[in-house]
Amino acid sequence: MKYNGIEYNECKEVYPPAEDTFMLMDNLVIKETDSVLEIGTGTGLVSICASAQCEKVTATDINPHALKCAEANIKLNSRSNIALIKSDLFENIEDRYDLILFNTPYLPVMEEEHVDDEYSKAWDGGESGREVIDRFIEQAPEYLKKDGKIQLVQSSFSDNEKTIEYFQKIGFKAEITANEHMFFEDITLITAKKIR
Ligand SMILES: C[S@@+](CC[C@H](N)C(=O)[O-])C[C@H]1O[C@@H](n2cnc3c(N)ncnc32)[C@H](O)[C@@H]1O
Repeated sequence: MKYNGIEYNECKEVYPPAEDTFMLMDNLVIKETDSVLEIGTGTGLVSICASAQCEKVTATDINPHALKCAEANIKLNSRSNIALIKSDLFENIEDRYDLILFNTPYLPVMEEEHVDDEYSKAWDGGESGREVIDRFIEQAPEYLKKDGKIQLVQSSFSDNEKTIEYFQKIGFKAEITANEHMFFEDITLITAKKIR
């Protein structure tokens, strides 16, 4: 498969690139000198795209199948500036970055529908749809350089306004920078910049 000149293969147990993936790829705000961290890289497509625009990318995922898949796709595109790390959010991250990217698991999933496997982590945002999003926003500032930015994809199902308010409360300027109406929801890209 191919998107914007990047070749990739989908893999079993790994989130297949979709509209949310492409929205993030198409709207990256990267400077050549930026260090970039992607949380939840899946097939690696977003990080491969970012790696063409800056010197170094670190790509993580909690799902070991995703890391294997991303490794194969990175090789397929002959990229040598992407480091892969298995991590639950920032658990195994030590550095600070200019830009942090995350296409989040944003769907509300009721407890009785919850499936405890690696694949479901790609979309399962808990009952509110915000469990991973809120944990991410709480931890991310510690891994961001001064004037750093965050780009996060979620859906109207997981309350865009709450995300913007949360960012503002902790010293970020946050706004919706892309939006796409799907069947029952809007997929939204929120870009947040640290201002204090
Ligand atoms: C919606 S998918 C996006 C995958 C890929 N970035 C894309 O855009 O196609 C969310 C990804 O986040 C990963 N993920 C979920 N919870 C995570 C966590 N706590 N820490 C790291 N990665 C996580 C999932 O395994 C999945 O690969």
